[in-house]
Amino acid sequence: MHIGPHHFSGRFFLAPLAGVSDRPFRAICREMGAAFTYTEMVSAHGLLHAQSQTLSYLDRDPAEVPFAVQIFAAEPEVLARGAVAAVEAGAGIVDINMACPVRKVCGTGAGAALAREPAAVEASVRAVTRAVRVPVTVKIRAGWDDATVNCVDVARAAEAGGASAVALHGRTRAQGYSGKADWSLIRAVKEAVGIPVLGSGDVWSAADALRMRRETGCDAVLVARGACGNPWIFRDLRAAEAGEEMPGHPRRDEWVETVERHVELQIEHRTRQHGGEDATTAEGHAVRELRKHLLWYTRGLQGGARFRRDATAVATAAGVEALLDRHFPPGAPFTFDPSLAAREAIAE
Ligand SMILES: Cc1cc2nc3c(=O)[nH]c(=O)nc-3n(C[C@H](O)[C@H](O)[C@H](O)COP(=O)(O)O)c2cc1C
Repeated sequence: MHIGPHHFSGRFFLAPLAGVSDRPFRAICREMGAAFTYTEMVSAHGLLHAQSQTLSYLDRDPAEVPFAVQIFAAEPEVLARGAVAAVEAGAGIVDINMACPVRKVCGTGAGAALAREPAAVEASVRAVTRAVRVPVTVKIRAGWDDATVNCVDVARAAEAGGASAVALHGRTRAQGYSGKADWSLIRAVKEAVGIPVLGSGDVWSAADALRMRRETGCDAVLVARGACGNPWIFRDLRAAEAGEEMPGHPRRDEWVETVERHVELQIEHRTRQHGGEDATTAEGHAVRELRKHLLWYTRGLQGGARFRRDATAVATAAGVEALLDRHFPPGAPFTFDPSLAAREAIAE
């Protein structure tokens, strides 16, 4: 699997996830076997104005190669200048977000709104490919709503503009993140373009990811909500790609080790982002930022609901460690129930 000159050792990638696919989570997923990861969506305007929050999204591990930065804006020239700034910050791939359904983003003409007109898609991609020498990819949705499903035309327009790959989330903008993703559209896009096609939508388990590949013929699969709390999905997929048995959900000690490592990485990330902060403040912010992950990690675990009640107040790494030990003591039964995990994910 290639995107431009970049070769990937696997076909299962971590999707761009705002508020989630930051450096710590990308590192954890890569360690588990994700073959490729993206930053969360980054405002091209923010990059141009060197806003500190925006620049903090560019924090990356030097080993994260190629570093893929996803940018958004409505105007082709802003996208182009944002892409140049991303490349200067180390991006080896620039992805253009044409999929975000949020009103604040679409209201400016960016995100999913940009893909309403294939001509605008082609112009945006062309502006960016002319501005940078790295591969440019796009992420799109099925269409704006059921009446305007245009992903095949949009993918063709992206290819005509010079895109090196296209990722399709098989839901419309009107669907947001609910309802079902239409995988038949991923197949339709794959049949319509010559560039690699990445499939996204309703990949909750390794079995789903494998089935998406089989049913759509996509070149790679983006794992999104299915990776939240379950980076081990990538380990299973690596094993499946090698024709080996999937190891499945980890045992207690390994699970605790990963959660604690995530806490540590988050504190380091926060410290790099906010150099002026004292250590206690940085740790407090980092642990608060991590709370959503703590909730996801404990989905499907016996005792998870009680842990989540207590975790709402945790503010230090030692506090997380103590909570893990109290609710999931070493040597005690550690039971993961995938159907409970799915029910808890839906209930959130
Ligand atoms: C919390 C959250 C944040 C997301 N942020 C982004 C983003 O920044 N850029 C993007 O292209 N897609 C984003 N997405 C969409 C995902 O990449 C993915 O396409 C979508 O969740 C469908 O996959 P799933 O049904 O397997 O979760 C986000 C989705 C969620 C749930």
